[in-house]
Amino acid sequence: MKTRMILIGLVILIAAFPVIGTAESAFDPDTDLLLQDMAARSHSTHDNSLGYPGNEDIRLDGFYDWYLKNEVGHAMMNNAGDPNDVTEDHGAMRIENEVIRFFAPLYGFDPDDVWGLVTMSGTDGNNHGIYFGRHCLVAETGIEPILYVSTEAHYSNMRLAELQQLETRLVETDEMGRMIPEAFRAALDPDRPALIVYSMGTTFKGAIDDQQAINAIIDEVSPPAVYRHVDAALFGGYLPFSQYRGMVDQSTCRFDSIAVSGHKFFGMDEPCGLFFTSREVLEKQNPYQITYLNGSMPMINCSRSAVNPLKFYWLIKTVGMEGFSEMATGMLENAAYLKKQLDEIGWPAWVSSEMSNTVFFAKPSDEIMEKYTLAPDYDDRFGGDLAHVVVMASVTRVQIDSLIEDLEAELAEIELPAA
Ligand SMILES: Cc1ncc(COP(=O)(O)O)c(C=O)c1O
Repeated sequence: MKTRMILIGLVILIAAFPVIGTAESAFDPDTDLLLQDMAARSHSTHDNSLGYPGNEDIRLDGFYDWYLKNEVGHAMMNNAGDPNDVTEDHGAMRIENEVIRFFAPLYGFDPDDVWGLVTMSGTDGNNHGIYFGRHCLVAETGIEPILYVSTEAHYSNMRLAELQQLETRLVETDEMGRMIPEAFRAALDPDRPALIVYSMGTTFKGAIDDQQAINAIIDEVSPPAVYRHVDAALFGGYLPFSQYRGMVDQSTCRFDSIAVSGHKFFGMDEPCGLFFTSREVLEKQNPYQITYLNGSMPMINCSRSAVNPLKFYWLIKTVGMEGFSEMATGMLENAAYLKKQLDEIGWPAWVSSEMSNTVFFAKPSDEIMEKYTLAPDYDDRFGGDLAHVVVMASVTRVQIDSLIEDLEAELAEIELPAA
């Protein structure tokens, strides 16, 4: 009887605390607690997160099933090599090549003339753009270039320019965050090659630099050589699947390379990205012919993930053109909806253009900032403190309505700047 009571007590205990101290756990209670806390937070902090550009609608369950079922994780895979020219594949370079060939035409590159990579992140793509750009310009002219980038561009560009020891000129922006063409003209040195980083969606205001206007100035001033890199970390994900696809088309915009983040629009579950340039640019790089790898290594990193290309491939085959297009359309509709709702309740709010999924507005209370994980910024031109929502595919109208309801309730208590 006593044994039965003890057993019943144990069952109740295990049911009440399903993880801590169960017989199945391979870990000590502290480790269990830490892991379970992380697992719980991975859901709770993301459920209502509207301020950062992560698509929480991750559709990789099927991928993980396939990965486990086929024991792919039992092998150490490494895409250490050029995925555009695969001789030996010790990782998933042929699949990476498929990913490159799928995306290349969406950015206006000819799949037979493109050179691309699945990178570690948007920053990694920008690093390649700036590095390739400098090498191209020096190869063409023998003169060190000057890098031009807007003051509202992502800080990674400034950091990378510093890392690559490039003379950098920051170009002022208008209030919506776009590089001011006349400020660019004033900064442009006619005697030095120009390496320009265009922002295709600045991080806070979602501004798109006017490539046509800047290109017209370049044509007029005619510096010795020009290289254009586009930092399209977020917008480069969805624009190709929207009615604004021409904005990221290399064949009409004349850019030399483009970097996109994989974990923003596409719904990858860890950092990665895409980088594209042309064979002409590649030919001006140091090929780094590496004997032990039996090939050329023009890219910056030696080891690269083989799993991210697999996941990308999985998304291409499962979500595909149709799914990505639905996501892109839905995001832009929901961004317009959010802006309209903010206008209706009289909360000062702005969107840089109809191509942007980023709505910025007067900063609400800390409680609301925290509840929706909103990102802050400051700009005198909009009355000071600001917040933004990045309307990703996972952002729902229910979440938007909830935010609007909370903001409306706060209207009476808070002093807002004029719209
Ligand atoms: C415009 C822009 N460029 C680059 C980056 C950096 O991208 P990643 O986080 O993929 O390195 C970001 C990140 O938010 C960004 O908004």
